[in-house]
Amino acid sequence: MTVEADFIPATAESKPEHSPIDVSSKAFWAQTSEERDKTFARLRSNPDDHVSWQRPVEDAVTPDPDDPGYWAVVKHADIVKVSRDNDTYISGQGVLFDLLPPYFLELSQSFLAMDNPRHDHLRKLVSSAFTPKQIRRIEDQITTAAREVVDGFARDSSGEIEFVERCGKVLPTRMFCDMFGVPEQHRELVHKSAGDVVAWADPEALGDRSPQEVQVEACTNLHAVAKELIDERRKNPGDDLLSNLVQADIDGEKLTDFEIGSFFVLLSVAGTDTTKHTSAFTVKAMTEFPDQRDWLREDFDGRIKSSIEEFIRYASPVMTFRRTAVAEAELGGKRIIPGDKVVLFYPSGNYDEDVFTDPDRFDLSRNPNPHVGFGGGGAHFCLGNQLAKSMLRALFSELLTRVPEFEAGEPDLLGTNFMRGVKRMPFRFKPEK
Ligand code: HEM
Repeated sequence: MTVEADFIPATAESKPEHSPIDVSSKAFWAQTSEERDKTFARLRSNPDDHVSWQRPVEDAVTPDPDDPGYWAVVKHADIVKVSRDNDTYISGQGVLFDLLPPYFLELSQSFLAMDNPRHDHLRKLVSSAFTPKQIRRIEDQITTAAREVVDGFARDSSGEIEFVERCGKVLPTRMFCDMFGVPEQHRELVHKSAGDVVAWADPEALGDRSPQEVQVEACTNLHAVAKELIDERRKNPGDDLLSNLVQADIDGEKLTDFEIGSFFVLLSVAGTDTTKHTSAFTVKAMTEFPDQRDWLREDFDGRIKSSIEEFIRYASPVMTFRRTAVAEAELGGKRIIPGDKVVLFYPSGNYDEDVFTDPDRFDLSRNPNPHVGFGGGGAHFCLGNQLAKSMLRALFSELLTRVPEFEAGEPDLLGTNFMRGVKRMPFRFKPEK
């Protein structure tokens, strides 16, 4: 069992030269995912580059002059190996690829950036809300919400909307807010702040402000909403997720408001942006591969389960997470030593030719489809994966029956090295009669 480790500084000891195939530059992350994958494919094609020593991320939010760099993991098998070995590769020393200030991480990461035993305690506390059984219980709620989302534009005679604002963001934000009982007047702020938390490298989100300013403001807003809800549940506890958290006892200790607030921030991002971006990339993919849309429509109920796995693989909205080694290990023929940072590139794993035939093809019948879009397994595997799948199923059921003749235009992409996202995208459709 992993224990919470003392901080081990990274060292340049016994490291090779930084790889000439660079995945740390700003220019690299400013490319489209198709362009980036050409570089990942070069790394994947040479066994000596499967795990490559890279220079520190360029223009980090809080640069560390002593940072020697990190190991880039691009093969599916290695991503799975690292994800599942939570004794060697821990999360408690940060999970983001970019270097962000410690106070921001405390405000926003909750148990995503913890190790056992605390990670398991906290995860168990909240996981009751995410079991397949629990998700089935709220299935009707999700279906109704999805119907209302599509009601919002299906008869719009203009036959055109901006997809993210009018469709993609609405269902996940609503489900997250329902889950925590966020009142209507705070919902827009919650959505905007959740987006700002992860937009630290996107010039549009920053405007003339620094990433720190934007992040801290976004986290502070979310903590303030959480605090209001926590106070209310302390007075009137119910049978909901937040009441459970407020009343929980971990080894004789109660969670502080701050800890619950950080969990609220984590979920506001993990649960909303990821699903929103997946739905945007999926309507785009269905525009480019109309045969796949037709194939799914022929037998929606029979085919949607496997199709959703392909939605996630193809979109790969979460691009990077990091671990830190606390024991010596061998990975892709390289010697990893305690203190080394190890970064997992999920889209590269999801387009790995050794696992996925014709990976650039959006193939809804792909089977098996062992993508790493929700992580490679192990202690941190996405807690909300069932909820995400359920939302995608409900949304695409509505879209493909009510406005099946649609076409997505060019997406305006989010510019960060964490979330592969769509800021806005035109969506034209034949209105429902
Ligand atoms: C398409 C949608 C989603 C994708 C692609 C996604 C992806 C991921 C990934 C890659 C991780 C990290 C896995 C690892 O480190 O091994 C993760 C963790 C997590 N996700 Fe998701 N996620 C999605 C939706 C959701 C939803 C809807 C929720 C909840 C409402 C959620 C809650 C979480 C939480 C709480 C964690 C941290 C788990 C832990 O550290 O134990 N996610 N997700």
